Amino acid sequence: MNLLPRPVSYVDGGRLCAYKGWETVLVDGPAGGYRLLSSDDGVLIEAHDAAGEMNALQTLRQLLGAQAFRAAGEKPAVIPACEIVDHPRFEWRGVMLDVARHFLPKREVLRYVELLSVHKLNVLHLHLTDDQGWRFECRRYPKLTEVGSWREDSRFGDRRSAGLKGRPHGGFYTQDDLREIVEYARQRHITVIPEIDIPGHSQAAIAAYPELGVHGGGVWTDWGVNERVLNTEESTADFYRNVFDELMDVFPSEIIGLGGDEAPGHDGELVRAIARHIVRGGRRPYGWDEILESGPLVEGTVVASWRGVEGGITAMRAGHDVVMCPEEHVYLDYRQSESLDEPIPVGTVTTLEDVYAWEPVPAELTGEEPGRLLGAQANIWTEHLDSARRVDYAAFPRLAAFAEVVWSPPEKDPGFVRRLAEHHLPRLDALGVEYRPLSGPHPWQRLPGVPGFPR
Ligand code: ACM
Repeated sequence: MNLLPRPVSYVDGGRLCAYKGWETVLVDGPAGGYRLLSSDDGVLIEAHDAAGEMNALQTLRQLLGAQAFRAAGEKPAVIPACEIVDHPRFEWRGVMLDVARHFLPKREVLRYVELLSVHKLNVLHLHLTDDQGWRFECRRYPKLTEVGSWREDSRFGDRRSAGLKGRPHGGFYTQDDLREIVEYARQRHITVIPEIDIPGHSQAAIAAYPELGVHGGGVWTDWGVNERVLNTEESTADFYRNVFDELMDVFPSEIIGLGGDEAPGHDGELVRAIARHIVRGGRRPYGWDEILESGPLVEGTVVASWRGVEGGITAMRAGHDVVMCPEEHVYLDYRQSESLDEPIPVGTVTTLEDVYAWEPVPAELTGEEPGRLLGAQANIWTEHLDSARRVDYAAFPRLAAFAEVVWSPPEKDPGFVRRLAEHHLPRLDALGVEYRPLSGPHPWQRLPGVPGFPR
C-alpha cells in the first residue's frame, strides 16, 4: 500500500481490517501533522491541530481506495492495518489559478478547492485581474466588471501566428461568490489569497476607467506583455486604495497580492503606495519578484520568485519571506512533453518527472538568511486554457507531483511514477479529473492546428 503524498513514516500491518469509522484526539506535534493508526479496533487519528485532522482524513480516504473518491456508491468496507506518522514540510503549499485570462466559473473554483484539499495543498492564490479581464466585483467602481469583465475576442493560440477565435469571453465573481469560495476553502484549511495586478496587466481596468491609463484602449484580446500600464497620477493610487479596501473586506487572508510583474516603464511608486495601504489595513503585501527592482520593499512584503529562484534568494537575504514558483519548474501551463500532440505547446518542457524532481530550497541558501522560505506554489496561467477541461489537462497529474514535493521530505522516491499510476490516477478517475494520461493526450485532448510557441 502506498500513499500520495508520502508520509514521514508508514508501517504496513500486512493485512486488511473491517472499516468501522474513525475517532480523532488532539495531541501536540508539528503544525498540520497527525498520526493515524488503523487496526481491528477502528481508526484512531491523533491530530496536532484542526488542519492535521483534515490531512489525516485525506490520508484515510486514500487508504480506503479509489472508490472513496466517488461522490456516491458503495462505501469502502476494508482498510489496511497500518500506522502512519505524517506532517507537511512547508507551511505554504500553494496553487495560483489565473481566472483573469479565462474566467473559471465559481463551481469550477469550488471543485479546485476540493482538489487542493485532496492533495493536502493549503493556499489558493486567485489572480483576479489582468489585461484580458477583471473578475472581482467592486461596488464603488461598477464599470470594472460592467466593462472590464469581458472582451470581444481572444487569440486562439500564440499571438505570433494564431488568429482570433471570433467570439466574446467573460465572467466575474460577485463579492458573495468570493465570500462563499473563501468559506468553502476555510472549512478545508485552505487560505484563499487574492491578487489584483498593478501597475501592469491592467488594461481591463483602463478600458473601464480610461483616466487610470495613458493610452486608453479596450479590454485586451491578445496575450503577452502589454505596454499600456497604469499612469502615475495620485488619483490612480486613490482609486486602487479604494479597490484594495473592498478586496481586503472580502478576503480575510493575512496576505494580499498586488502583482507588480511585467510593467514596462513603470517606476514602482504605485506598488509601494498600495503596499503601504495594505500594511495600514493590517495585512501583508504579496508581489511577483519584479517588485524587488524598484527600491526597498515595504516591511512584511512576501515575494513570489517566478523568474528563477534568484529573486527569492535576494529577498530572503534582505529579510523578506518568500514563496518559490520558478517558471522553469512549476508553471503548469507549460508543455508536458516534446510531442507536437501537446495542445497549444508553450514554454519549456515541464514533464511530470521534472516537477517531481524539483527541490524548492535553493542550494545557495545557508539557513542564516533573515527572511523565511514559506514554501512554494504551482502557477496555472490560462491564456491557452479556456475551460476547466483544459485546466485539468494542464494541472494533472503534475499537480500531484508538486503536492508531494511540498509535503514530503526532500529525498526523492524512485517509485513515484509507479505509485502515481497504480494508486493515484484511479483516484483522479473516480473524482472525474480529466488529467493528461502518462502516455500522452487522448485524441480529444489535442488541439491540432492551434499554434503554440515552444521554447
Ligand atoms: C508572471 O508569470 N508574469 C508572474
